[in-house]
Amino acid sequence: MKTTEVHGKRFRLAIPEEQIKSSVLRLARKIDQDYAHKNPFFLAVLNGSFLFAADLLREVRTECEISFIRVSSYNGTSTTGVVSELMGLKEDIEGRHVIVLEDIIDTGNTLVKLQELLLAKKPASIRFGTLLFKPRAYTKDIPVDYVGMEVGNEFLIGYGLDYDGKARNLKDIYVLDEE
Ligand code: IMP
Ligand code: MG
Repeated sequence: MKTTEVHGKRFRLAIPEEQIKSSVLRLARKIDQDYAHKNPFFLAVLNGSFLFAADLLREVRTECEISFIRVSSYNGTSTTGVVSELMGLKEDIEGRHVIVLEDIIDTGNTLVKLQELLLAKKPASIRFGTLLFKPRAYTKDIPVDYVGMEVGNEFLIGYGLDYDGKARNLKDIYVLDEE
């Protein structure tokens, strides 16, 4: 069994690279079908989604554009856990078909706030795509249109997902080993 250690904690292989690749390919084909001639505008949420976005975009054949945003969850000096600000969106998305790309959707708090911040910029439509989705943690009503894989409530790392900044570079996805 493939394992890795990060910040003194042990993780074991959960989703191998090949499985990630086939999920990404399936999402790209679906997006191609849904967005033909719509010139979709992908917005990848940094940092976590950088690998997913890069791999997905290379599989999308429909004419499209991509940009990157970060979200800030800071209110003064303490973290609120709630996204309060959109950073880095320079492009005008008014009238555009926006597809937000996330690495993982957990409670959905980030997604709700992102939708609110982006709707104010009057896009023609907004949909959400994520490599990983935790359906048992998700508490919101907003549909997540493009889900690579559903996962349990465990803590995952690799392929963009970090544990305190580390492990984003791993090609496979690993789960925290509780033992
Ligand atoms: P949400 O706002 O609760 O949906 O949380 C989304 C954010 O929490 C993601 O963008 C990740 O940064 C982080 N997150 C949630 N679950 C995990 C995980 O299993 N591993 C790493 N980060 C996670
Ligand atoms: Mg993230």
